[in-house]
Amino acid sequence: MSLVELLRVTGLSANDISTLKETVAQAAIKCPVVTALQLHQKEGPAELSYGYLSTGCQQLDKFLRGGLLSRGITEIAGESASGKTQLCIQMCLTVQLPHELGGFSAGAVYICTEDVFPNKRLVQMVDLLKKRCHIPSVSDIKFTDNIFIEHAAELDDLSFCINKKLPVLLAKGQVKLIVIDSIAALFRCDFSVHEAAKRAKQLSAFAAQLTKLNCQYNAPVICVNQVSDVIHSTNGATQGSRKVMPSLGICWANLVTCRLMLSRTNETVTVRQRDDAGNVVSCIEANVRNMEVMFAPHLPNTLCRYIIDHDGVKALS
Ligand SMILES: Nc1ncnc2c1ncn2[C@@H]1O[C@H](COP(=O)(O)OP(=O)(O)O)[C@@H](O)[C@H]1O
Ligand SMILES: [Mg+2]
Repeated sequence: MSLVELLRVTGLSANDISTLKETVAQAAIKCPVVTALQLHQKEGPAELSYGYLSTGCQQLDKFLRGGLLSRGITEIAGESASGKTQLCIQMCLTVQLPHELGGFSAGAVYICTEDVFPNKRLVQMVDLLKKRCHIPSVSDIKFTDNIFIEHAAELDDLSFCINKKLPVLLAKGQVKLIVIDSIAALFRCDFSVHEAAKRAKQLSAFAAQLTKLNCQYNAPVICVNQVSDVIHSTNGATQGSRKVMPSLGICWANLVTCRLMLSRTNETVTVRQRDDAGNVVSCIEANVRNMEVMFAPHLPNTLCRYIIDHDGVKALS
């Protein structure tokens, strides 16, 4: 209401109305004003603070300027076998590490929509991580007990999971990482080409809920995405001789905070595995892969080469 209307309705003086408006504004304001400097120096309110989750590889963390940004939705896109799931599993382990080792000292929720969760590989990665890390605080972590696995075969299952189950787990402080592997599988199959508007609406609602949980609990969200071939366009990343783009279109792209694209190359390198004394114990040939930052609020559009070996995902120096 305007001042004139308020004067008429309430019968208060102009001064009183000004005081009333200020008092109501103070009480109703949800998000206090924070300056860019305060944000940078992490002096703002808790709900605006952010951190980085280690990827489990120091070089990769350096490339990502600290690791995975805890704020917003991070998309990991790439064609089949590019390493999306490997990277996600690796981060389900690093999130359980103490803060000084780049983790958040909490578990993870892993929502599978495509394949069954690769349990064997998880156990292998846990064993190797424990062997590499001789710190008691790491050896004592029961990594596999802190990963909550959900299988969502349909959109309704996914919706139930993120709206009902996730808030409970997050509220208990048991988890600090949400992985959806993959978002594309359900949203690509459940809608026909003529249902783009309906799909966009559902995607927005889905992203809004994830963003809400992300802000409330400062828990990073990773959405794995598939890729689509780009026909007659100069945009998109090159995978082999093909140009590809993350799927789900422009609506989804606008809901994502940070987009990373993984791809395989034909190049191979010899990786020497060493024991604690530095002696070479084995040599393996590994495929070189690329991680490209397609967009992110804090990163330039750059590329990092990496490999996957027994231990997991590692950047090449
Ligand atoms: N134990 C392992 N040792 C070396 N490489 C592995 C191992 N497990 C998986 N990989 C590599 O990871 C690739 C699969 O990655 P994945 O993350 O499952 O792909 P996607 O992008 O489809 O999720 C395999 O093609 C293989 O090259
Ligand atoms: Mg996968």
